[in-house]
Amino acid sequence: MATHSFTFGSTFILLLLSLLLQFYSGKSELQLNYYSESCPRAEEIIKEEVTKLYHEHGNTAVSWIRNLFHDCSVKSCDASLLLETANGVVSEKGSSRSFGMRNFKYVNTIKKALENECPNTVSCADIVALSARDGAAMLGGPYMTMKTGRKDSKESYLDDVESSIPNHNDTMSFVLSTFQSIGIDTEGTVALLGAHSVGRVHCINIVHRLYPTVDLTLDPEYAEYLKGRCPSPYPNPNAVEYARNDRETPMVLDNMYYKNIMSHKGLLVVDQELVSDPNTYPFVEKMAADNGYFHDQFSRALITLSENNPLTGDQGEIRKDCRFVNKS
Ligand code: HEM
Ligand SMILES: *[C@@H]1O[C@H](CO)[C@@H](O)[C@H](O)[C@H]1NC(C)=O
Repeated sequence: MATHSFTFGSTFILLLLSLLLQFYSGKSELQLNYYSESCPRAEEIIKEEVTKLYHEHGNTAVSWIRNLFHDCSVKSCDASLLLETANGVVSEKGSSRSFGMRNFKYVNTIKKALENECPNTVSCADIVALSARDGAAMLGGPYMTMKTGRKDSKESYLDDVESSIPNHNDTMSFVLSTFQSIGIDTEGTVALLGAHSVGRVHCINIVHRLYPTVDLTLDPEYAEYLKGRCPSPYPNPNAVEYARNDRETPMVLDNMYYKNIMSHKGLLVVDQELVSDPNTYPFVEKMAADNGYFHDQFSRALITLSENNPLTGDQGEIRKDCRFVNKS
């Protein structure tokens, strides 16, 4: 009895302390329906815009998913990715890790629709998160309930991009530890790479597996097909030469990716490593066999990623234009 009340008492004090700490640091928690009072239609507007854009340019939905990864992995989910180079600060978009990213201009379309209805209210960071959620659903992926209340950074973190986003040919143990450091386990990492079930890879990230000799982990017939897509060992980085991640269902966020890599039809070295690494292979097999399981794990991991170290409360700001910090 005495121990119980002691536990209760100390839990209570701890709770009080953490509330006080939050108050003084100006930090608070992300929450469901953060905009319910300030902009009740915020989530609906984002969904409408994502849907409209998807019907005009299907690959916008693909971009929203990659945006979340590249924004949230670097420091925090704070829309730092979206900042343009200005005042001597170079944009994260300029990193070689951001190669091939596209459709940024349509983020402004979504932001404008929100500014029309609720000026200075909805952050660009929440647009990054919610557009990825809605993009995934448009592509036949799972629908995720996401918390909101993220604020936008006042700076970009170009120097952190290379240490936070793995390269296409990094080892699986490096990839796993990178995701581990933001709270995503092996199973979650395997599921997140399933995003490579949609979209494309430029030849510059493929040719080293084709020339001068074909990578032995590639299916030989598939390698011939890829050589057709990428006929030169020295692709011009400015040419739009690419292969689709998934020839079967290129615009569906499904488990075809795992079936493809199991038959040695992964495009990137990291994709193929999921099969050769004994830590990841059991999850690959399970995801290849069960699309529902893939979707569950993908949702769980994407939500964790979307909640990585957000700016909240009076940290950061709500950018008026997602490309630039507000003028003070
Ligand atoms: C080890 C981790 C990862 C590496 C090394 C990696 C690397 C890459 C590379 C090299 C490309 C092709 C870029 C190009 O040539 O155009 C790509 C595309 C893509 N990645 Fe990843 N990626 C990783 C994880 C993720 C994660 C976690 C997500 C999202 C949850 C993601 C989403 C995408 C999407 C959607 C595309 C297609 C983009 C488009 O078609 O516009 N990737 N990734
Ligand atoms: C990985 O690819 C980069 C180019 O993207 C290259 O500079 C580097 O040497 C490659 N590393 C390995 C281990 O192959």
